[in-house]
Amino acid sequence: MNSLKPYTEYIESELAKVEFPEKPNNLYDPLRYFLKLGGKRIRPIMTLLGAELFGTAKEVVISQALSIEVFHNFTLIHDDMIDEAPMRRNQQTVHQKWDTNIAILSGDALVIKAYQLLSQIEPTQLPTAFELLNKTALEVCEGQIMDTDFETQEDVTIAKYIEMIRLKTSVLLGAALKIGALVAQASDQDQRNLYNFGQNIGIAFQIQDDILDLYANPDKFGKQVGGDVIANKKTLLHLTAIGKATLEQREIIRQLQNEDKLGFKVNRTKELFDQLMVKEDCQLMMQDYYNRAMKSLDAVEIDSDRKQTLIELAEYLVQRDV
Ligand code: IPE
Ligand code: IPE
Ligand code: MG
Ligand code: MG
Ligand code: MG
Repeated sequence: MNSLKPYTEYIESELAKVEFPEKPNNLYDPLRYFLKLGGKRIRPIMTLLGAELFGTAKEVVISQALSIEVFHNFTLIHDDMIDEAPMRRNQQTVHQKWDTNIAILSGDALVIKAYQLLSQIEPTQLPTAFELLNKTALEVCEGQIMDTDFETQEDVTIAKYIEMIRLKTSVLLGAALKIGALVAQASDQDQRNLYNFGQNIGIAFQIQDDILDLYANPDKFGKQVGGDVIANKKTLLHLTAIGKATLEQREIIRQLQNEDKLGFKVNRTKELFDQLMVKEDCQLMMQDYYNRAMKSLDAVEIDSDRKQTLIELAEYLVQRDV
C-alpha cells in the first residue's frame, strides 16, 4: 500500500472539505459521521489513477473521484440496513446508531451530493459522465436486489452469483476508473479496456470480501464476522460448498440456514466449509479474475511502467485482510 498512501491522504483531505449544512441534524450528522469513519477509499483512488495514466493531474479529476466515494458511501449505508449489519469500519452502522428512516434519508442525501460533485466537470463531458453514473447506479440496485432475492433461493448458480457481484460491486470500480480516463480524454478503446480491468478486479475484490466475511480476524475486520452466513447469503463460499458436498453434508448446510443459535450456525457452517476446502477453491477463482483483469490492463495502450501503481492497487485488493 506504500505508493498508494499519498493518494489516500489526498482523498481524505479533499473529502473533509465537502460541505453539508448543519441542520437538520438528523439528516446531516449521520452522513458526516459515516464519511469520517474512513474506509480504504479505493474507488476514488481508481479515478485519480485512471486520469493519471493519461497524463491528467489528480486535481483536475478530484470532484469526480469524490463523487464516486460519496456514491459508494450511500450504497453502504443502505446495504447495512438491507443486511442488518451492526458494524462497519469498526463503528456502529447508521441505522443502528440512529434509525432506519434516518439511514434511508441520509443515504438519499449522499446520492444527490454525488451527482452535484460529478457535475463539476468540463461541461462538454457532463452528458457522458452522467450517463455513466446513471447506468452504474441502476446496475448496483439490480445487483443488490439479486443479492437479497438469492437469500431465499436454492437454485443460485455460480454464473448467477458472478453476474450478481458484477452488478452490485464491480461496475462501480469500472466506472471509477472510466470516469478518470474520460476526464483525461483517453481513447474509447482505452476507456473500455480500463473499465473491463475494473470489472474483473471488482469481481476478484468481492470474492475476497466474501472470504473475509467468514475468515477475517474479528479484531481487525471492522465488520461483523459471519454476517453472510447469518443472513443466508449465497456467497461463493456457500455455492462452492454446495457443489462439493455429499448429499448428507448438503442437507446439514441447508438445515443450518434455519438455525436460530447464530454462533453455532456460523461455527458449524465454517467447519463444513473447512472440511470441503472451499476457501482454497474461492481463492483460485479470485486469482482467475485477477488474471483476467491484468489482461485488460495490458491492452491499455500506454507504457507499462505507468501502470505500476494501478497494479499495486489490484494486488492490494485481493490480498487485503480488511
Ligand atoms: C465494501 O466496500 C462493499 C463491497 C463492495 C465489498 P469496501 O471494502 O471498499 O468498503 P470501505 O469503503 O473500504 O469501507
Ligand atoms: C456490498 O456487498 C455491495 C454494495 C454495497 C453495493 P456486501 O454486503 O458483501 O458488502 P459488505 O460486506 O457489507 O461491505
Ligand atoms: Mg453488506
Ligand atoms: Mg450486501
Ligand atoms: Mg460482504
